[in-house]
Amino acid sequence: MDRNYSKLDRFITSIDDALRISTGDAPMPFRENPAGDLVAADLDEDDRRHVAATAHHDATREAMQLAADEEIDHLSWCEDRLKELDSRPSVLNPLWYAGSFAIGAVAGIAGDNWSLGFVKETENQVEAHLQDHLEKLPEGDARSQAILDQMKEDEAKHADMAVEAGARDLPPPIRRAMTFTADIMKALAYRI
Ligand SMILES: [Fe+2]
Ligand SMILES: [Fe+2]
Repeated sequence: MDRNYSKLDRFITSIDDALRISTGDAPMPFRENPAGDLVAADLDEDDRRHVAATAHHDATREAMQLAADEEIDHLSWCEDRLKELDSRPSVLNPLWYAGSFAIGAVAGIAGDNWSLGFVKETENQVEAHLQDHLEKLPEGDARSQAILDQMKEDEAKHADMAVEAGARDLPPPIRRAMTFTADIMKALAYRI
């Protein structure tokens, strides 16, 4: 039963999702946790977040929906791993989510190609962050590595999908502003 959702319906649904995801337990994943039965090592961690785009075209929306579903997997897997490490997501999580949501809404107003450009740049930066994170993992932490590897692969795919759907290259000052903001978020999330 596929009813036609109005823009307002979709907006309210996404706010509802945002509140649930940012304040409660991560939803059920679509795919199995890639860490599977891999052995645990003892160590520390950190985390990050994502976008919801207000895209106009169906194909774009479908591609973005797939990416969004995979981001749910990422949230769930990271939350599993944090629990295994007797840790928790950053207390600033709801703030990250609200910020991402606001940026996504503004990018959506700017139009599909710009919002896709924003997705592509975000995915590229997250991929680089995951690579950096992978290099800093304690030796033998196969569980974290398996999760980060799969996430990195997914982010590369999300960036490709955004390009295929017509992402525009963001102006360098905006890219720099995003890197700057992400660096602050990473530094804060690492501590609180
Ligand atoms: Fe992700
Ligand atoms: Fe992604």
